[in-house]
Formats: sequence, C-alpha cells, structure tokens
Amino acid sequence: MTAQDTTAPAPTASTPPGDVPAWWRQAVVYQVYPRSFADADGDGLGDLTGITRRADYLAELGVDAVWLSPFYPSELADGGYDVADYRDVDPRLGTLDDFDAMVAALHGRGIRVVVDIVPNHTSDQHAWFRAALAAGPGSPERARYIFREGTGPDGSEPPTDWESTFGGPAWERVPDGQWYLHSFATEQPDLAWDHPEVRADFVRTLRFWSDRGVDGFRIDVAHMLTKDLTEPLPSAAEIEALPRDGNHPLYDRDDVHEVYAEWRTVLDDYDPPRAAVAEAWVDSERVPLYARPESLGQSFNFDLLLAEPDAAEFRRIIADNLELAARSGSSSTWVLSNHDVVRHATRYGIAPRGDGLAPRERAARWLLEGGPENGLDREHGLRVARAATLLVLGLPGSTYLYQGEELGLHEVADIPAERRQDPTFFRTGGAQVGRDGCRVPIPWTTDAGSFGFGTGDAHLPQPAWFAAHAVAAQETDPDSTLGLYRRALAARRRLQGAEELTWVETGRDDVLHYVRPGGWHVVTVFGDEPYPLDGGRVVLASTAEDGDADGARVPGWSTVWYLADEG
Ligand code: NOJ
Repeated sequence: MTAQDTTAPAPTASTPPGDVPAWWRQAVVYQVYPRSFADADGDGLGDLTGITRRADYLAELGVDAVWLSPFYPSELADGGYDVADYRDVDPRLGTLDDFDAMVAALHGRGIRVVVDIVPNHTSDQHAWFRAALAAGPGSPERARYIFREGTGPDGSEPPTDWESTFGGPAWERVPDGQWYLHSFATEQPDLAWDHPEVRADFVRTLRFWSDRGVDGFRIDVAHMLTKDLTEPLPSAAEIEALPRDGNHPLYDRDDVHEVYAEWRTVLDDYDPPRAAVAEAWVDSERVPLYARPESLGQSFNFDLLLAEPDAAEFRRIIADNLELAARSGSSSTWVLSNHDVVRHATRYGIAPRGDGLAPRERAARWLLEGGPENGLDREHGLRVARAATLLVLGLPGSTYLYQGEELGLHEVADIPAERRQDPTFFRTGGAQVGRDGCRVPIPWTTDAGSFGFGTGDAHLPQPAWFAAHAVAAQETDPDSTLGLYRRALAARRRLQGAEELTWVETGRDDVLHYVRPGGWHVVTVFGDEPYPLDGGRVVLASTAEDGDADGARVPGWSTVWYLADEG
C-alpha cells in the first residue's frame, strides 16, 4: 500500500454529448479576487501583473482555469461589481497590455481565463449613467436605466417599498426628483434590459474579451436582468408572494433566455466556443434553463455552500445536482467557498451545530457576536473543510475553488469598522458584517508587512495568524493544506473519465462512499468515528494520521481516495 498511487488509469478526454470537446466540463477553476491576490506595484491593491507573476504558483497548484472577479474601472462601491467601463482595466490594477500579458502567461502554462460579466447594473460612474443624469427625465439617455417618478403628493416617496439586496431602499432619488432602481448598492443602477442598446453593448463586451483570448465568462446575477415593470408596480410583500415560475416581475424570468440565446450564438462564433457559467440563484428545477447548451452552458449550484457538513445532506445535494446537470446536457459545478460567503473552514468550525440555524445564518451571527473568540474551533473547521474539498474534487463536474482556501484560510472576523468596505455593512448599519472577511489579501510569505502580498499595506488588514498559512510556510510540507490541494489536483487529472458515479451503501448514516469509473473510490466520514476500509490502494487522504496511509480505515472527519484492488 502506498500513500500516493501512481498506477491509476490514464486520463481520457471528457467529451460531452455531441462530441464537442469542452474543457470546462471537468475543470478545476480557481477564483482570483484580483484586488486581494498579489500586488505588484505596492499600492496596497492587487493587480494584473501580480497575477502574472504568480502564474507559476497557479500552474503548480494544478488548476485548469482562473476566473477573475471584476478588474474593470470601478469606484469600488461593491468590490468592483460596480463597473464603470466594461472594456478596460482599472488603472490601479493595470492596463489592457497587462491583461494581455497575464493571459499569455496563464495560457502559456495551460491555464484558461474566465472573466466576470456584470450585466444587471453598471456603476453610477459609467458614462451612460452620467449621461442619464445630465440629460434629465424622459430623455433617451434615461431609457437605458430604470427611472420612475416618486409617489406621495410631491413625489418624494420612492416608487415602491422594495429593499435592495444589500439592505435599505432599492430606489434612489436624483436631484431633478426622479428615482432610479438599484437592486444592490446605490452606486449600482440597474440597466433596462428591454433596451436594444443595452443588449448590443454587452454583445460588444463579450466579443471584446473573447477577441483578447478569454476562454469563458461568469455571468453575475444572471437571473435578474430582464424585468416586467408594468405599472402599477407591486409592493415588496406582493413581490415576495409571487411564484418564481418564469413570470415573476423581477427574478428568473423566462424572457432572460432570449438574451442568453443571443449570447450563445456569439460565444459559439469562436473556436473553441467560449464557455459561460451563470450565477443564478433560482429554484433548482429552473437551473437547467441556464445550463442548457443553447443558453450559457453551465450554472453554479450553491447548495453545498449553504449545507451543513452532513452525510445525508451532501448525498442528496450531489445526487440532485448530477441529475439536474444531466437533464440540461451540462456538467455540474461544485462550490464550497467564494468571495460572497464566510470561508468553509470557518463555517465548519463554528459551534454549536443543531442550533436550528442554517450554516449561513450561524456564520453571520458568529461574525456579529465577536468572531474568532466566539466558539470557532479552527483546527476542526479546517479538518472538515479538507474532507469536504476532497469529497467534492472526486465528483464528476467542475469545481470552483476560491483563492486562499488552498492555504486553509479562515475568515478574518475582526476587521475594524473603519476599514470595512462591503456595502452590506454600511447599508445595514452594521447589522450585517458583510463579506470583507473572505476578501483579505492572501499571505504569500511569513514576513510582516503584507505577508508578501505587496510592498505596501494591504487594502484590508491581515491578521497575525496569516503567517502560519502563508504559501512559504506550507510549500514544502506535503501534508499542509496547500500540499493536499496540489496532490489532489494532480491525482484528479487521472480521474477524467465518464461523468458518472455509483453510490456504495456503507450501513452508516455518517459515511458517504461513491465510486467513479475505473474503480476510484471516495469515502468521507462526517463524524468522529473512523470507518474501516476493506483493502484498496490509497491515493490520498485529507487527514495525515498514523495508520491512514495503509488504507485500513478512514479517520473521523476525513476523506480518503483509494483505488480498488484488482481481481
Ligand atoms: C454577485 C456577486 O458575486 C457579488 O459579489 C456582488 O456584490 C453582486 N452580485 C452584485 O453584483
């Protein structure tokens, strides 16, 4: 028995229905939050040249693609998701030449590039919105956004009582008295997707980046673009009560797929066709609409990111999503962490479970009630996170990793109010702490200063405990979390066969066991009690403990990959 088996089946290309090779179906996609990845020019904000300089790191990690959160010119009212110009680079992050150099560096190492498209809203600094404000009520410039008269005798009340996703009212009044809709921050006015110029402009944007060699797109709040704002507008309570059946006035409308059908023809003009993944928070039954080949082609499922580390819950989610993906002809996506949620190592380390709260609410409460000192078991959380990651990386479909999870980073909870940036914090008056804690620049070295992130102070404060998680502190240790991710991604390349799995019944309700074609077994224990194995050659174990490498057992709160004994 060896801890790292080298006789696994050779890789076979994954080919979707229709015989079109599609790199994204089984890809490991690494999300870079550019302002917090690596700062080459020392201004405290990460930049594109920082990513270029870390291309070797990404190659060594073994990812297939990098997805960049927005790097476009932005006032940073929402971490870059307030885009002032969709076809340029924020000067603080570089230039278009820097972008080309980054793409060349990544492509040169076999890593694809996915960029973020934010079509529901622009920044209030976008040329269109400035023109809309300057041109006044009733102008063609205003027609690209959603302007309405107010209510009340003098129009000083908003058109409706709708709340923005980040808290506070969803309408903002402009000096001439009209109101505009912003589903997110005030600085993010919603676009009118029934306007032909809006539609044409995003096609230009897709072509612009595709022509520059981008391999795919992640579509921000893909379910929110089209709206039916026929008067009289419903109240917030009425909106809430309406079924989300494709005719809802604001969410997941059937007519949004006219947009994506057009986009798909544009993306398919390229060779290879450009990929796209929808960030669509919709009922699972409606996910296939976005994931169909004639639409965006793939859609995130966030079910695991919202789940307890529980065997039955994980199994149900995995089975449901594989079935949904098959129904659409797509492959499933798996996500445990991203830039919008408390890091999974932390979610899994917060006690108590069984408190009746969903993990997301528990994490929000933990952040509010003081963070680290308040019942976070760092070691346990990371142990469970490593097990969950290995479970997910064995699944058919593509896995999206979020920068820093490969370092075992926890959420940074204790960011002082005056350093916080997330509009959620401000718009809720601090009732929600927001998402800054997973967006803190990642540690590369153990050096004081900014832990090798850059030469200046990082734009969000990094805690002292980051040193132990630095790349430099883990690099040479195969059992570190970084070592585990590297070994897992390398081993996973041998697992690229048919997109199938078979469940093996374990007789224990805290143990999941599935097998992939080629006899590749994945066993996860969601509890303290080890689970005995019946032979097999261990490929990888999420927990390095005496006795695990021999394939005799899976320790508590761990995952083991093993290959069945032949014959
Ligand atoms: C979803 C993005 O992931 C999030 O970060 C952003 O705040 C909203 N969309 C608004 O663009």
